[in-house]
Amino acid sequence: MEKIQWQRNPHKNLHPQTAAIANFREMERAMKFHRTLPDYAPTPLASLESLANYLGLGEIFVKDESYRFGLNSFKILGSSYAIANYLDEEYTKELNSFSTIKEKIKTLPSRVFATATAGNHGLGLAWTVKQFGQQSVVFMPKGSCLRKLDNLRALGAQAEITTLNYDDTVQYVSRLAQERNWILIQDTAWDGYVDTPKLIMQGYLTILGECLKQLKIIEKEQPTHVILQAGVGSFAGTIVEGLKQLVSTSIIFIVVEPTKADCFFQSGCSADGTVKNASGDLSTMMAGLACRDPNPIAWNILKNIVDCFVTCPDHVAAKGMRILGNPLDKDPRIISGESGAVPLGFLVEVCKNPLLKDLKKALELNTTSRILLISTEGDTDPENYRAICWDGKYPTFEE
Ligand SMILES: Cc1ncc(COP(=O)(O)O)c(C=O)c1O
Repeated sequence: MEKIQWQRNPHKNLHPQTAAIANFREMERAMKFHRTLPDYAPTPLASLESLANYLGLGEIFVKDESYRFGLNSFKILGSSYAIANYLDEEYTKELNSFSTIKEKIKTLPSRVFATATAGNHGLGLAWTVKQFGQQSVVFMPKGSCLRKLDNLRALGAQAEITTLNYDDTVQYVSRLAQERNWILIQDTAWDGYVDTPKLIMQGYLTILGECLKQLKIIEKEQPTHVILQAGVGSFAGTIVEGLKQLVSTSIIFIVVEPTKADCFFQSGCSADGTVKNASGDLSTMMAGLACRDPNPIAWNILKNIVDCFVTCPDHVAAKGMRILGNPLDKDPRIISGESGAVPLGFLVEVCKNPLLKDLKKALELNTTSRILLISTEGDTDPENYRAICWDGKYPTFEE
């Protein structure tokens, strides 16, 4: 059975640090816009005191993105910000509010926004496009969850599942968008396509802005460790760079990926720090993390800042889902899906599995550690959630 793999990042601090994406100004700009969207509310930051105690850690904070605009994941923050910037056509100036932009475009012919998605990004895009009265076209990779397809269609998207994997679906939509004059809103970058993914990444800064405020309100100190899940790495890249820019204390950053979709782990292995694709066939239940090609903007950030790259088999994410859904004592319950729960599953394994004691030591995890995790999705695949939490699918691996 597959096990957790890890390696220290040999490229850390070898490259000059420039704030490419995330800084205070960009964070405030994104937050200011998101606050104007219908039904905006910050997502909760939970403190899992009993679990921290049980694991011999200081504190565990979990930002619960299942509450984001009722869409069950954080992804809406990126697509809404990129679409608003596109429609407002004032990239360099202050971004107008949602209602001002909507008013401004109301007499213009509607436009078609297109994307490829494992589900969450497309849902955010379809929701935003609906709010602005525009049209959306969404393609999903083979094997995608039918419930997610239905959710997209319910928001008015013209949505279908392709016979391709995620990365090939991205290329397919990108070609179609060019031929058909659609506006591509993709959450990863490549040569010649960087402006939109940068805006999507900056949209994710709202999570960080809320988090920093919430820690202040509950009078907690900044985290010592941050464990982030990565697909193409746009999310992890933004949060890592943002924290590096905005928090003066030192933080140990850990990036986790599925075993079969290990593009950052592989890039970390490259002798010269060049970006590498995943070595596996992307087969994982962590649909949001099943990516072959990393976002090069994210890699340029992560390679300089991250301390450790980790790969996790599916049973680690399953354990994270079960623990978050069945908390200890008075800890709050968090409904966390496959891609949302893998950092917690990893944290529990590293603290409890004697075979990982060297890793625990290398990561300096002890009673003074304050861990920040972001549960990036709720039960976006409810059938799989129940199969895991009720029926014990993906049981914990015993040595
Ligand atoms: C729930 C969830 N978590 C994490 C991620 C990873 O984000 P990124 O692809 O930017 O690394 C995704 C991506 O779709 C996701 O849906």
